[in-house]
Amino acid sequence: MQTTKTPHPLHILVCTNARHDGTPSCGDSGEAQGVFEQLKIRLKEAKLPVRVSRTGCLGPCAQGPNVMCYPQGVWFQAVSEQDIPEIEARVREMLMDT
Ligand code: FES
Repeated sequence: MQTTKTPHPLHILVCTNARHDGTPSCGDSGEAQGVFEQLKIRLKEAKLPVRVSRTGCLGPCAQGPNVMCYPQGVWFQAVSEQDIPEIEARVREMLMDT
């Protein structure tokens, strides 16, 4: 095993986990996949030095779709595609603080 530092000053994890069993999950909301895809496109077009990844369950399923930012420790909850411009603005603020 090797250890290294992340090359990204900000890594955004979008939970797209879907359970399809009636229990709350981000992926069952119908928004999470679109949030992931559109956020990735928007931040790439903006040429921001961030990485956007889809992920499995982060824990607070009933508050989803959940998006979290590391290492800043900022979480966005109940996210929809309409929130993407605000997330971009918040990401820009976080990058200024790094
Ligand atoms: S399913 Fe997204 S946080 Fe659990």
